[in-house]
Amino acid sequence: MDDATLSALRCWFRDYCRTFYTDNEDDNRNIRLKEEHTAQVCATMELLADSLALAPADRRLAAAVALFHDVGRFEQFRRYRTFKDSASVNHAALGARVLAEEGVLAGVAEGERRLIASTVGLHNVFRIPAGLDERHLLFLRLIRDADKLDIWRVFIEFYRQPAGERASAVSLGFPDIPHCTPAVVDTLLGGEMVDLATLRTLNDFKLLQLSWVFDLNFSCSRQVVRERGYVELIADMIPRQGDVARAIEVVRDALSPREPDSGAAGAVGRC
Ligand SMILES: [Fe+2]
Repeated sequence: MDDATLSALRCWFRDYCRTFYTDNEDDNRNIRLKEEHTAQVCATMELLADSLALAPADRRLAAAVALFHDVGRFEQFRRYRTFKDSASVNHAALGARVLAEEGVLAGVAEGERRLIASTVGLHNVFRIPAGLDERHLLFLRLIRDADKLDIWRVFIEFYRQPAGERASAVSLGFPDIPHCTPAVVDTLLGGEMVDLATLRTLNDFKLLQLSWVFDLNFSCSRQVVRERGYVELIADMIPRQGDVARAIEVVRDALSPREPDSGAAGAVGRC
Protein backbone atom coordinates (compact mmCIF):
# COMPACT_ATOMS: atom_id res chain seq x y z
CA MET A 1 0.00 0.00 0.00
CA ASP A 2 1.38 3.40 -0.93
CA ASP A 3 0.96 6.70 0.90
CA ALA A 4 -1.82 7.90 -1.40
CA THR A 5 -3.89 4.76 -0.74
CA LEU A 6 -3.47 5.14 3.01
CA SER A 7 -4.51 8.81 2.77
CA ALA A 8 -7.63 7.80 0.83
CA LEU A 9 -8.50 5.25 3.53
CA ARG A 10 -8.12 7.94 6.20
CA CYS A 11 -10.46 10.25 4.26
CA TRP A 12 -13.03 7.48 3.87
CA PHE A 13 -12.94 6.77 7.61
CA ARG A 14 -13.36 10.43 8.54
CA ASP A 15 -16.36 10.79 6.22
CA TYR A 16 -17.84 7.51 7.45
CA CYS A 17 -17.64 8.64 11.10
CA ARG A 18 -19.44 11.87 10.24
CA THR A 19 -22.53 9.96 9.13
CA PHE A 20 -23.11 8.72 12.70
CA TYR A 21 -23.45 12.06 14.49
CA THR A 22 -27.03 13.07 15.33
CA ASP A 23 -28.72 15.79 17.39
CA ASN A 24 -28.61 13.53 20.47
CA GLU A 25 -25.66 14.59 22.66
CA ASP A 26 -25.40 11.25 24.50
CA ASP A 27 -25.20 9.38 21.20
CA ASN A 28 -22.60 11.83 19.94
CA ARG A 29 -20.45 11.34 23.06
CA ASN A 30 -20.29 7.62 22.32
CA ILE A 31 -19.49 8.13 18.64
CA ARG A 32 -16.88 10.80 19.44
CA LEU A 33 -15.31 8.47 21.98
CA LYS A 34 -14.76 5.77 19.33
CA GLU A 35 -13.46 8.25 16.79
CA GLU A 36 -10.98 9.61 19.33
CA HIS A 37 -10.07 6.06 20.39
CA THR A 38 -9.24 5.22 16.78
CA ALA A 39 -7.00 8.30 16.48
CA GLN A 40 -5.14 7.34 19.65
CA VAL A 41 -4.77 3.69 18.61
CA CYS A 42 -3.29 4.92 15.31
CA ALA A 43 -0.77 7.05 17.24
CA THR A 44 0.14 4.15 19.54
CA MET A 45 0.50 1.85 16.55
CA GLU A 46 3.17 4.22 15.20
CA LEU A 47 5.01 3.94 18.48
CA LEU A 48 4.96 0.13 18.34
CA ALA A 49 5.97 0.17 14.66
CA ASP A 50 8.95 2.36 15.61
CA SER A 51 9.95 0.02 18.40
CA LEU A 52 10.01 -2.94 15.99
CA ALA A 53 11.63 -0.89 13.20
CA LEU A 54 8.96 -2.01 10.73
CA ALA A 55 9.58 -1.38 7.04
CA PRO A 56 7.60 1.56 5.53
CA ALA A 57 5.13 -0.70 3.68
CA ASP A 58 4.40 -2.64 6.87
CA ARG A 59 4.01 0.60 8.83
CA ARG A 60 1.29 1.69 6.38
CA LEU A 61 -0.40 -1.68 6.68
CA ALA A 62 -0.28 -1.43 10.47
CA ALA A 63 -1.74 2.08 10.20
CA ALA A 64 -4.65 0.79 8.10
CA VAL A 65 -5.32 -2.01 10.60
CA ALA A 66 -5.36 0.54 13.43
CA LEU A 67 -7.64 2.87 11.47
CA PHE A 68 -10.24 0.17 10.83
CA HIS A 69 -9.96 -2.05 13.90
CA ASP A 70 -13.14 -0.62 15.47
CA VAL A 71 -14.98 0.41 12.32
CA GLY A 72 -17.80 -1.89 13.43
CA ARG A 73 -18.37 0.09 16.64
CA PHE A 74 -20.26 2.85 14.82
CA GLU A 75 -22.87 0.63 13.21
CA GLN A 76 -23.06 -1.40 16.44
CA PHE A 77 -23.95 1.72 18.41
CA ARG A 78 -26.38 3.01 15.81
CA ARG A 79 -28.25 -0.30 15.73
CA TYR A 80 -28.08 -1.37 19.37
CA ARG A 81 -27.00 1.71 21.36
CA THR A 82 -24.44 -0.32 23.26
CA PHE A 83 -20.78 -1.39 22.98
CA LYS A 84 -21.53 -4.69 24.73
CA ASP A 85 -20.98 -7.37 22.10
CA SER A 86 -22.78 -10.06 24.09
CA ALA A 87 -25.93 -7.93 24.09
CA SER A 88 -25.69 -6.94 20.45
CA VAL A 89 -23.22 -8.14 17.84
CA ASN A 90 -19.52 -9.01 17.62
CA HIS A 91 -18.20 -5.58 16.65
CA ALA A 92 -15.03 -7.02 15.11
CA ALA A 93 -16.91 -9.32 12.74
CA LEU A 94 -19.30 -6.46 11.98
CA GLY A 95 -16.28 -4.26 11.19
CA ALA A 96 -14.90 -6.79 8.70
CA ARG A 97 -18.38 -6.91 7.13
CA VAL A 98 -18.59 -3.11 6.88
CA LEU A 99 -15.23 -3.02 5.07
CA ALA A 100 -16.45 -5.63 2.59
CA GLU A 101 -19.92 -4.16 2.04
CA GLU A 102 -18.65 -0.61 1.59
CA GLY A 103 -15.86 -1.75 -0.74
CA VAL A 104 -13.44 0.29 1.35
CA LEU A 105 -10.40 -1.77 0.47
CA ALA A 106 -11.02 -1.99 -3.28
CA GLY A 107 -7.81 -0.04 -3.99
CA VAL A 108 -5.65 -2.27 -1.78
CA ALA A 109 -3.74 -5.30 -3.10
CA GLU A 110 -5.50 -8.59 -2.40
CA GLY A 111 -3.02 -10.00 0.12
CA GLU A 112 -3.07 -6.81 2.20
CA ARG A 113 -6.86 -6.58 1.86
CA ARG A 114 -7.25 -10.07 3.30
CA LEU A 115 -4.78 -9.34 6.08
CA ILE A 116 -6.59 -6.12 7.11
CA ALA A 117 -10.04 -7.75 7.03
CA SER A 118 -8.97 -10.81 8.99
CA THR A 119 -7.03 -8.77 11.57
CA VAL A 120 -9.97 -6.41 12.11
CA GLY A 121 -12.26 -9.45 12.45
CA LEU A 122 -10.03 -11.12 15.04
CA HIS A 123 -8.74 -8.14 17.02
CA ASN A 124 -11.05 -8.76 19.99
CA VAL A 125 -10.81 -12.55 20.38
CA PHE A 126 -10.14 -13.75 23.91
CA ARG A 127 -7.27 -15.92 22.70
CA ILE A 128 -5.47 -15.71 19.37
CA PRO A 129 -6.45 -18.79 17.34
CA ALA A 130 -3.80 -21.33 16.35
CA GLY A 131 -2.76 -21.68 12.73
CA LEU A 132 -2.27 -18.03 11.75
CA ASP A 133 0.81 -17.37 9.65
CA GLU A 134 3.60 -15.21 11.09
CA ARG A 135 2.52 -12.10 9.22
CA HIS A 136 -1.10 -12.22 10.34
CA LEU A 137 0.13 -12.96 13.83
CA LEU A 138 2.41 -9.91 13.87
CA PHE A 139 -0.33 -7.46 12.84
CA LEU A 140 -2.88 -9.08 15.13
CA ARG A 141 -0.49 -8.79 18.08
CA LEU A 142 0.24 -5.18 17.22
CA ILE A 143 -3.40 -4.12 17.06
CA ARG A 144 -4.31 -6.02 20.23
CA ASP A 145 -1.59 -4.16 22.15
CA ALA A 146 -2.29 -0.75 20.58
CA ASP A 147 -6.00 -1.19 21.28
CA LYS A 148 -5.48 -2.08 24.94
CA LEU A 149 -3.02 0.77 25.45
CA ASP A 150 -5.74 3.25 24.56
CA ILE A 151 -8.74 1.46 26.09
CA TRP A 152 -7.00 1.94 29.46
CA ARG A 153 -7.00 5.70 28.83
CA VAL A 154 -10.67 5.63 27.81
CA PHE A 155 -11.70 3.81 30.99
CA ILE A 156 -9.60 5.93 33.31
CA GLU A 157 -11.13 9.10 31.82
CA PHE A 158 -14.57 7.53 32.07
CA TYR A 159 -14.20 6.75 35.77
CA ARG A 160 -12.95 10.27 36.47
CA GLN A 161 -15.87 12.00 34.79
CA PRO A 162 -19.08 12.98 36.61
CA ALA A 163 -21.84 10.47 35.78
CA GLY A 164 -23.78 12.98 33.62
CA GLU A 165 -20.81 13.63 31.33
CA ARG A 166 -19.82 10.02 30.72
CA ALA A 167 -20.19 8.28 27.38
CA SER A 168 -22.95 5.96 28.58
CA ALA A 169 -21.95 2.80 26.70
CA VAL A 170 -18.39 2.56 28.11
CA SER A 171 -19.12 0.75 31.39
CA LEU A 172 -21.14 -1.95 29.62
CA GLY A 173 -23.91 -1.54 32.21
CA PHE A 174 -22.15 -3.24 35.14
CA PRO A 175 -23.45 -2.08 38.57
CA ASP A 176 -21.08 0.33 40.34
CA ILE A 177 -21.13 -1.37 43.77
CA PRO A 178 -18.14 -1.79 46.14
CA HIS A 179 -17.67 -5.49 45.48
CA CYS A 180 -15.13 -7.67 43.64
CA THR A 181 -16.12 -11.22 42.69
CA PRO A 182 -13.63 -13.70 44.30
CA ALA A 183 -13.38 -15.84 41.13
CA VAL A 184 -12.32 -12.76 39.16
CA VAL A 185 -9.63 -11.91 41.74
CA ASP A 186 -8.43 -15.54 41.65
CA THR A 187 -8.00 -15.34 37.88
CA LEU A 188 -5.64 -12.39 38.33
CA LEU A 189 -3.75 -14.22 41.07
CA GLY A 190 -3.14 -16.99 38.54
CA GLY A 191 -1.75 -14.49 36.02
CA GLU A 192 -4.62 -15.17 33.62
CA MET A 193 -6.84 -12.88 31.58
CA VAL A 194 -10.33 -12.43 32.97
CA ASP A 195 -13.23 -13.48 30.74
CA LEU A 196 -15.92 -10.82 30.30
CA ALA A 197 -18.60 -13.46 30.85
CA THR A 198 -17.51 -13.92 34.50
CA LEU A 199 -18.03 -10.27 35.54
CA ARG A 200 -20.74 -9.07 37.89
CA THR A 201 -19.70 -5.56 38.95
CA LEU A 202 -17.91 -2.48 37.63
CA ASN A 203 -15.03 -3.31 40.00
CA ASP A 204 -14.76 -6.73 38.33
CA PHE A 205 -14.54 -4.86 35.04
CA LYS A 206 -11.61 -2.83 36.41
CA LEU A 207 -9.92 -6.09 37.44
CA LEU A 208 -10.50 -7.44 33.94
CA GLN A 209 -8.79 -4.37 32.53
CA LEU A 210 -5.81 -4.95 34.82
CA SER A 211 -5.61 -8.56 33.64
CA TRP A 212 -4.92 -7.36 30.09
CA VAL A 213 -1.28 -6.79 31.07
CA PHE A 214 -0.90 -10.60 30.91
CA ASP A 215 -1.81 -10.48 27.22
CA LEU A 216 0.63 -7.77 26.07
CA ASN A 217 2.89 -8.91 23.26
CA PHE A 218 5.71 -6.35 23.11
CA SER A 219 8.22 -4.83 25.56
CA CYS A 220 7.31 -1.41 24.20
CA SER A 221 3.69 -1.97 25.25
CA ARG A 222 4.72 -2.85 28.79
CA GLN A 223 6.93 0.23 28.88
CA VAL A 224 4.05 2.45 27.77
CA VAL A 225 1.81 1.00 30.50
CA ARG A 226 4.49 1.73 33.09
CA GLU A 227 5.09 5.26 31.79
CA ARG A 228 1.42 6.13 31.70
CA GLY A 229 0.86 4.65 35.17
CA TYR A 230 -2.25 2.79 34.04
CA VAL A 231 -2.04 0.03 36.65
CA GLU A 232 -1.75 2.46 39.56
CA LEU A 233 -4.55 4.65 38.22
CA ILE A 234 -6.96 1.73 37.84
CA ALA A 235 -5.83 -0.05 41.02
CA ASP A 236 -6.53 3.11 43.03
CA MET A 237 -10.18 2.87 42.02
CA ILE A 238 -10.68 -0.71 43.26
CA PRO A 239 -11.64 -1.38 46.91
CA ARG A 240 -9.02 -3.49 48.71
CA GLN A 241 -10.99 -6.50 49.85
CA GLY A 242 -10.00 -10.17 50.06
CA ASP A 243 -6.99 -10.86 47.84
CA VAL A 244 -7.29 -7.75 45.69
CA ALA A 245 -4.00 -6.18 46.91
CA ARG A 246 -2.12 -9.43 46.20
CA ALA A 247 -3.72 -9.69 42.75
CA ILE A 248 -2.56 -6.16 41.93
CA GLU A 249 0.99 -7.17 42.89
CA VAL A 250 0.81 -10.05 40.39
CA VAL A 251 -0.23 -7.52 37.72
CA ARG A 252 2.68 -5.21 38.61
CA ASP A 253 5.15 -8.11 38.40
CA ALA A 254 3.94 -8.93 34.89
CA LEU A 255 4.92 -5.43 33.80
CA SER A 256 8.54 -5.58 34.86
CA PRO A 257 11.03 -5.02 32.03
CA ARG A 258 12.05 -8.19 30.18
CA GLU A 259 14.23 -8.99 27.21
CA PRO A 260 13.75 -6.65 24.23
CA ASP A 261 11.47 -7.97 21.49
CA SER A 262 13.16 -10.14 18.92
CA GLY A 263 13.50 -8.28 15.66
CA ALA A 264 13.72 -5.00 17.55
CA ALA A 265 17.48 -4.69 17.16
CA GLY A 266 18.32 -1.33 15.69
CA ALA A 267 14.84 -0.12 16.52
CA VAL A 268 14.24 3.58 16.64
CA GLY A 269 11.73 5.58 18.65
CA ARG A 270 11.22 6.01 22.34
CA CYS A 271 10.47 2.44 23.45
FE1 LIG B 1 -12.49 -3.25 19.28
